[in-house]
Order: sequence, then C-alpha cells, then structure tokens
Amino acid sequence: MAVDLLLGLQWGDEGKGKIVDVLTKNYNIIARFQGGPNAGHTLVFNGKKHVLHTIPSGIFHDDAINLVGNGVVIDPVIFKKELDKLAEQDIDYKKSLLISRKAHIILPTHRLLDAASEASKGKAKIGSTLKGIGPTYMDKTGRNGIRVGDLELADWKERYEALTSKHVSMIDYYDAKIEYDLEELETEFCEAIEVLKSLTFIDSEEYVYQAQKESKSILAEGAQGSLLDIDFGTYPFVTSSNTTAAGACTGLGVAPNQIGDVFGIFKAYTTRVGSGPFPTELFDEDGATMAKVGHEFGATTGRPRRCGWLDLVALKYACQVNGVTQLMMMKGDVLSGFKTLKVCTAYNYKGETIKHLPYNIEEENVSPIYTEFNGWSEDLTKMSDASELPAALNEYISFLEKELEIPITIVSVGPDREQTIFKN
Ligand code: IMP
Repeated sequence: MAVDLLLGLQWGDEGKGKIVDVLTKNYNIIARFQGGPNAGHTLVFNGKKHVLHTIPSGIFHDDAINLVGNGVVIDPVIFKKELDKLAEQDIDYKKSLLISRKAHIILPTHRLLDAASEASKGKAKIGSTLKGIGPTYMDKTGRNGIRVGDLELADWKERYEALTSKHVSMIDYYDAKIEYDLEELETEFCEAIEVLKSLTFIDSEEYVYQAQKESKSILAEGAQGSLLDIDFGTYPFVTSSNTTAAGACTGLGVAPNQIGDVFGIFKAYTTRVGSGPFPTELFDEDGATMAKVGHEFGATTGRPRRCGWLDLVALKYACQVNGVTQLMMMKGDVLSGFKTLKVCTAYNYKGETIKHLPYNIEEENVSPIYTEFNGWSEDLTKMSDASELPAALNEYISFLEKELEIPITIVSVGPDREQTIFKN
C-alpha cells in the first residue's frame, strides 16, 4: 500500500499537527521523516492543548503506531520531556512508539555549536531555534554523527566523548563566547539517554517495507515547511533537512514509486518565524491583526511570527516541488472581519512581471503584485459543514483551487480537532 505524505507548504507552522491528528483514524502508522525538536506541532482536543516536538502527532490515538524515522534528529533531553508529558496524561507510549536505529542524536554540544554559530553571524543570523539542528545534520553528512543504533554498541560512550571533545574545540573557534557547564548538561543528557534506551529501536526501512506489504496504511508527517527546505527553500534562511516530499523517501526509506497522496497544508495567509525574505510581509494594522487573532507565536520558541498576505507564487512552487494532490487550508477563521483580502499572484522581479519563484526573492529584487478579494465577516469557528461557509470565502477557495489546479479538501476553522470542515 502506498505511503501518503503530509507536508507544510509555507515557512512552517501551517497546522500540520492538527491535521495529522484528525487524519490518524484513517492510518495504522504515523511516521515523522525529518527535522527534530525545532518543530512544534500543536494539537487541541477536549479543551486541552498539546505540543509535540519530535514525537509523531498520532500518539494520542490508541490504535496508531508512531514511528520516528531515520531522517529525524532526536534530542534525548527534549524527547524525555515530551514522554514525561505523555505519561502525565496516561498515554501508554511504550507500546506505540518506535524509533529508527538510523536517526541521529543531538548532543548537548550540538546545541552549543548552534548558539555559537548564530551569535557569530551577527546581522546575518538565520534565526535558528537553537536546538542544535544544523550542527547535528552537519555531523550526519560529515559522517561523524552518533545514531540511535550506536546506543546498543559497547563503545558508544567513547564515540560520544570523541565527538564532544571535537565540538568543544570547535566552540572555542567561534568569536562569540558561549558560557556553559558541560558536566551539568551531560548529567541531564545521560539520564535522558537511559529513558530513550527503554524504548523500542527498529530497522525502520524494513519495518515500513513489511508494513506496506501487509497493506498497513502509513502517513508520513513532515515538519517545518517547503520554503524552509535545505535545497528548495529560501537558502540560507532555511532549516537543515529536506522538508519536501523527497525528504520522506530518504527520511523513511520509502521508494518514490510508493508515494500515494500528498497532502499540502497552508494557511489562508502567510507567516514566517526567524530571518529571511518574505515578499508579502505586512508591517501595518492588517499584519498586526493576523498576528493577534491568529495567536502567531512560535510553538517551540515563543517568538512572534511575521505575518503577511497569501503568496500564491510561492504556494504554487511548493505544490510543484511536492506533487501535492490535495490541499488543506488552515486558519481561514483568522481572516474573518477583513473588508478586503489580498493574494500575491505575481512578482515584479527587477521590473519584469513573473509568476514563478526566482533564485532570489530578497526585497530589493521582488515586490508582490496583488489580486484583491472581498472579505467575509462571519465567525467561522462554530461552523461544521461546508454548506455554512460564507460566499466570499468560497470565492477565495475557488480562486486558489483554479490557480493551483488542486482541490482544497479540508478547511480548518479553529485549532480544535472538531473545528475541521471536510469539502467534497
Ligand atoms: P533551525 O532549523 O532551528 O536551525 O532554524 C532554521 C530556520 O527555520 C529559522 O528561521 C527557524 O525559525 C525556522 N524553523 C525551524 N523549525 C521551524 C518550525 O517548525 N516552524 C517554523 N519555522 C521553523
């Protein structure tokens, strides 16, 4: 059975966690394929909010298996905190959580290196979540990393010590001096490693292959967004993994011809956290309203998110790169009350009108060209059926479907599991 994918199409924070949670009832296995605790997937049900960083968003369903794939990087300390929270809610994660032996481990010194690297960049900083993501993926591609499977080897501590002492000399190399107490960090790390070791480690590509053969349904859960992809995002202001569909193949060991539906999640407007270009960014009342009504603060770092109009040029690009088959529009409810809405349908690129994402979308090269729409004033948050959606919203949706040539099958009208409208 083919593996379905669920991905963010913008700069992250589209609401992937909520939709995975909603769709989990249709799947036997939910598998995270990239990223790490830089992600913050928010789920709301029964009046309670849950934020997951590394653990797949199917964990609250009794019947689903949740797999952390080889493409993910795991910080044992943050992972342990997530597990503790699940335990507080009587979630029996031991029976439903599997970890790939090939997933890489974020060491305390990876986090320190991230901090030193960012601090030394000054104005050019990426705006990283400082979770050690970049340095861990650098060690992975540099063939120095420590993997979950190494924890089963007799000499893993020696490997850890060798890599850590290399990191310490690298931290010294940076101009920015970072204060740290390695002994304290290591105590916490070692405790967390013991907890990690109590979980089930598997050869995940074999597990996924066999599950497919047994006709088990699998949903691959992406983290971050397509515009943060290391290859196709707004480099260098990106994360360090492939957040796009191809990342699911490498991050789980699924062959490209085994991919089924690709669910693309986007917000009815755009947000970005951290540095980097953002052509439709708003610095006025409209942007402030989106931020306030949409509670646009990072789920991992609490940083305010930058807000702007929907960028259809960028969205189309993300649909192309991922081969999206179904779209899911989030946070339409946040736009209720805007008299006029704008969608960027082309760019003015160095004086020329273009409809594709060019190499460089920095402010000095690109300005957005907008198409305007009538807004709607109705409160969407209590609606539960597509027939209730206001005409102006339906026009907005129809326009996007026509431009993107992909159906919008879910319209989310609030953070709760229940605030989900299925179309078609
Ligand atoms: P890093 O992956 O933590 O190094 O961060 C690199 C860039 O990606 C920064 O601009 C972050 O703000 C952004 N980023 C990383 N993870 C997320 C996410 O889950 N949502 C939104 N932005 C993210």
